[in-house]
Amino acid sequence: MRLIIKKTSDEASKWAANHIAQKINSFNNKPFTLGLPTGSTPLQTYDELIKLNKKGFVSFQNVTTFNMDEYVGLSDKCEQSYHYFMYHNFFDHIDIKKQNIHILNGMAENLEKECENYEKAIKDAGGIRLFLGGVGEDGHIAFNEPFTSLKSRTHVQPLTQDTIRVNSRFFSGDQSKVPTKALTVGVQTVMDSDEVLILAFGKNKAKALYHSLEEGISHKWTLSAVQMHENAVIVCDEDAASLLNKETTDYFLDIEN
Ligand code: GLP
Repeated sequence: MRLIIKKTSDEASKWAANHIAQKINSFNNKPFTLGLPTGSTPLQTYDELIKLNKKGFVSFQNVTTFNMDEYVGLSDKCEQSYHYFMYHNFFDHIDIKKQNIHILNGMAENLEKECENYEKAIKDAGGIRLFLGGVGEDGHIAFNEPFTSLKSRTHVQPLTQDTIRVNSRFFSGDQSKVPTKALTVGVQTVMDSDEVLILAFGKNKAKALYHSLEEGISHKWTLSAVQMHENAVIVCDEDAASLLNKETTDYFLDIEN
């Protein structure tokens, strides 16, 4: 595993965006499948990718995307939906083909079928080359809450009170407006990708990083599954790395230098 520690989230986001652009470019216009997250963490990375796209350094013409998750019961017109978030913050500003964008439909009549079809669509696309993700304060990746099976695939996920509280900031602070369920790719869906790139910024992510990296693999901190991935990169700022042991951070700094 690689751990890239940058002073600020700004520097870390630039690193992540350049890394993603390089990966796409290394495919020389061959189809590239990218997994994507929402949340406040990836926003700067999306901004950087938009800039790189506009300057002609990277094109999304041959990129197919699969988003990690979506709330159950929110339409794509709703500003809090992940559909709205993705178009508003990223897709509307790059040269991606609309038919190559995949986001789980939280309004589907049969949610289980929707999840099954999503897994199939990922398989049909040849799997995911790079899955970009964030992490929740309780160590969740996508919406895989603590104690979700590390072998899980795309499924309907009841949200914990902690997640509802944290995410209520996007619903004008009103926890009663936050959906209680979401559709999410599973931990195994993320781990099946060729590369996993996780962003973690700020002091409120330090505990999640500590438990996921310093301790053993545990379904309590679903991010810890990256320990078993052969090509995982965590990009964080100094605040998020602040609870890691010094010998851990020294090791990773040494390797990167
Ligand atoms: C939500 C999303 C996750 C995201 C997490 C952290 O729970 N489902 O994919 O990683 O929030 O969000 P933020 O980046 O806003 O801290």
